[in-house]
Amino acid sequence: MLFKVINIITLCFISCCFALDIQVNDKDSICEAAKIVQEGMWNYYEGTNYGGTVGMFAPPNYWWNAGEAFGGLVDYFTYCEPTNNTLKDLIKEGMYHQAGENYNYIPSNQSMTEGNDDQGVWGMAIMEAVERNFTDPDSHSWLQMAQAIFNTMNARWDTDHCGGGLRWQIFTWNSGYDYKNSISNGCLFHIGARLARYTNNQTEYVAVAEKVWQWMEDVGFLTEEDNNNTRILDGAKINDDNNTCGKVTDLRWSYTYGVFMAGCAYLYDLTRNDTWLLRTEEIVDASLSYFFTDERIMQETTCQPHNLCNNDQRSFRSLFSRCLGLTVALIPDLKDKIEPYLQASAQGAAASCSGGTDLVTCGESWSLGTWDRVYGLGEQMNALEVMLALIAEEPISIETGGSNRTDYSAGTGTEDTENKNKINITGKDRAGAGVLTAIVLAIIVGGSVWMLF
Ligand SMILES: *[C@@H]1O[C@H](CO)[C@@H](O)[C@H](O)[C@H]1NC(C)=O
Ligand SMILES: *[C@@H]1O[C@H](CO)[C@@H](O)[C@H](O)[C@H]1NC(C)=O
Ligand SMILES: *[C@@H]1O[C@H](CO)[C@@H](O)[C@H](O)[C@H]1NC(C)=O
Ligand SMILES: *[C@@H]1O[C@H](CO)[C@@H](O)[C@H](O)[C@H]1NC(C)=O
Ligand SMILES: *[C@@H]1O[C@H](CO)[C@@H](O)[C@H](O)[C@H]1NC(C)=O
Ligand SMILES: *[C@@H]1O[C@H](CO)[C@@H](O)[C@H](O)[C@H]1NC(C)=O
Ligand SMILES: *[C@@H]1O[C@H](CO)[C@@H](O)[C@H](O)[C@H]1NC(C)=O
Ligand SMILES: *[C@@H]1O[C@H](CO)[C@@H](O)[C@H](O)[C@H]1NC(C)=O
Repeated sequence: MLFKVINIITLCFISCCFALDIQVNDKDSICEAAKIVQEGMWNYYEGTNYGGTVGMFAPPNYWWNAGEAFGGLVDYFTYCEPTNNTLKDLIKEGMYHQAGENYNYIPSNQSMTEGNDDQGVWGMAIMEAVERNFTDPDSHSWLQMAQAIFNTMNARWDTDHCGGGLRWQIFTWNSGYDYKNSISNGCLFHIGARLARYTNNQTEYVAVAEKVWQWMEDVGFLTEEDNNNTRILDGAKINDDNNTCGKVTDLRWSYTYGVFMAGCAYLYDLTRNDTWLLRTEEIVDASLSYFFTDERIMQETTCQPHNLCNNDQRSFRSLFSRCLGLTVALIPDLKDKIEPYLQASAQGAAASCSGGTDLVTCGESWSLGTWDRVYGLGEQMNALEVMLALIAEEPISIETGGSNRTDYSAGTGTEDTENKNKINITGKDRAGAGVLTAIVLAIIVGGSVWMLF
């Protein structure tokens, strides 16, 4: 106890002088800061704890958050520590362990939580592995698993409600099965665009991406407008008695803009069709005007200014940042426009990483120049990815030396069994177990950081 008190007093004295500092034009400086930020992410990792599950992070983080985390970690490894085999193995084992029985990222024991968007976010992580030449597991290449994700998602395209689109949920028993949303469909669009570019095979992947885009416009989830006002809204419930959608939920999320923006950039890089360049630019403009403050600091505008972001929403800027970085890497002409926003945000993020007992725990607001006492895996991931976005490298493809272990029909047929899988845990049990685990983990994992409060 005495130790703790001293610790707190010490903290009060020195917290003024600690914070990450980055030189936004210097890769070494960015990697130094990113190293500390990603170390903070591993504090929440369960896979190296006794009895913990490989590939999972501590509650309240869900399975999908692990997908977010690993995508950023693959980039961190690639840009900053490419010779660290310990780090590589940790990332590789974590990602591979969650592939599920059919190597399609539908592990049967996540069927109480997994939606199309969750599988899609894992798909983005697996594509990161594909495009960064991250070492393949022996049994399946990352590419084959990404193809399985794409095929199982696309097989759920549902023309009987709202005239098309993916539902939010995969499983009938999860709430939100009667809702179609932009992020789920955005992930299918995004993964299709990336697979098309990586394989240079436009046959199905471009057609599916075009199908998604057209449907998004048809149902009014996506409206292309002038004056930085392109909108990508949250989604809508299905109407059961006819093939229409209900009223569109008028909420905008940064990661949804990100996945569509980068998807357009991949399609432009592949096809050189100006329509995709124009669409990329429209989403970039809308993003820069809605998701940044006047000081060019990134924020989750729909909830963050009111301190209303939930645990999921608090992590959205990680994927948004990654997508901004990919967009610049694919279309260097957009660098001058986007980079000042990334630089200001990365500096703000670094300054926010001055909390906790380690004095480098990152916060939610990047406008304060200091830590705002909000902390978690999401805050660490956001800060990591906005820094890495400044040094994002152009994704490789098969033509530029990437793995060619393809399987165009991977995962086909496995989606049929999804809703028939026997579930032997109920939602209630899972929630109960979650709370217990959270308490135990708060003590074990978060330990020193969490006990301050
Ligand atoms: C889920 O299944 C994996 C194997 O696929 C297993 O390692 C893990 O312990 C199971 N439980 C959880 C909560 O992930
Ligand atoms: C390699 O990564 C591991 C895991 O993140 C870390 O503990 C170790 O310090 C790293 N090695 C070096 C030389 O930085
Ligand atoms: C291109 O993709 C289609 C399916 O999307 C596949 O059937 C075909 O074999 C692929 N072509 C090549 C050359 O791999
Ligand atoms: C659109 O946003 C850009 C920043 O990307 C800004 O420079 C420009 O003035 C905005 N245009 C309008 C019409 O608001
Ligand atoms: C479709 O059904 C919903 C009620 O489920 C109704 O409100 C809507 O007006 C119907 N639309 C059309 C075009 O019939
Ligand atoms: C460019 O892409 C748009 C949107 O998919 C499509 O309608 C158009 O036909 C394409 N143009 C060419 C020249 O392929
Ligand atoms: C990808 O990694 C393999 C070895 O795993 C290597 O032979 C190949 O040259 C690498 N490709 C690129 C583009 O770095
Ligand atoms: C895949 O790449 C290997 C070398 O990495 C090459 O020998 C083989 O011919 C390629 N296969 C195809 C179908 O292009």
